[in-house]
Amino acid sequence: MSLKCDFQVQMKEKVQAVEDILRQYLPEPEGRQEMIMEAMSYSLMAGGKRLRPLLMQEVCALFPRQSRALPVFMAALEMIHTYSLVHDDLPAMDNDEYRRGRKTTHVVYGEDMGILAGDALLNYAFETAFRAFDLAPAESLTIGKALQVLGRKAGIYGMIGGQVVDVKETGHAVPREVLDTIYELKTAALIEAAMMIGAILGGATEEEVRKTEQIARNVGVAFQIQDDILDVTSTSETLGKPVGSDEKNEKSTYVTLMGIEACGRIVKERSAEAVSLLRQLPGEHDFLEQLLLALIHRDR
Ligand code: IPE
Ligand code: IPE
Ligand code: MG
Ligand code: MG
Ligand code: MG
Repeated sequence: MSLKCDFQVQMKEKVQAVEDILRQYLPEPEGRQEMIMEAMSYSLMAGGKRLRPLLMQEVCALFPRQSRALPVFMAALEMIHTYSLVHDDLPAMDNDEYRRGRKTTHVVYGEDMGILAGDALLNYAFETAFRAFDLAPAESLTIGKALQVLGRKAGIYGMIGGQVVDVKETGHAVPREVLDTIYELKTAALIEAAMMIGAILGGATEEEVRKTEQIARNVGVAFQIQDDILDVTSTSETLGKPVGSDEKNEKSTYVTLMGIEACGRIVKERSAEAVSLLRQLPGEHDFLEQLLLALIHRDR
């Protein structure tokens, strides 16, 4: 089997395993509030790429400890990422009607339930992550550290902070350093959380966790620039979400600032930087390297 084909087979299996974990930790629809559990499941199980839990798992595998807390953190982070998408699509934000190949949550369940489904996924993410203390009592110290990273990277110093600047800087040209702040916060922060939590649970040293954060920042910024490129060059069928959303919303992006070709070069450079830093970490990183390089050419 060719190397590339082998990678795709492995990816498929790993994504399937992530889906199983997500399904396992979703709440059962029950009680008078069962509509919210349905809306949570609708958005979470819609078939995203599952990049963040995958990265968490693969980084964790570089380090010596096999953590029992890993699956709940993988699920928790994908819940937080999904809530960020549910809210990002709301009429008051990007006002988009498709996500992950389906009608967006607020279109199906109404705007009120869309807001609440996002809130519910965020809160349930922490309820899920806290289960780590019961599942792995011997790992309490690293679980505490992982929770600190999860909270901070999702909040005003991370993803939410980035969405705030993104919203404020709409409708006018935005200089590159401000775009960098937006991309580092709205997108890279959750990818940093994924990879850092993987490292922490695996038993990495503080220096290794810092190195992991640097790798993830490069991955995250490259990922958002590629997302901007695809918003212009792809089709909604392939993406599973509308194309032209940035233009519709008068968003300044890397693409509007410097054009598609230059953006493609930056995506490659930042991904190469991530791979070269990754080689400074211990463990077997073949699969992870292939994953980072595959993101450069992704079409969705
Ligand atoms: C979309 O993230 C939002 C961005 C940060 C660009 P993904 O492209 O990872 O979305 P899913 O999870 O595959 O749907
Ligand atoms: C949003 O960026 C990133 C989030 C934190 C949700 P975009 O608005 O470009 O993401 P998409 O294109 O809707 O997925
Ligand atoms: Mg947005
Ligand atoms: Mg959007
Ligand atoms: Mg986008």
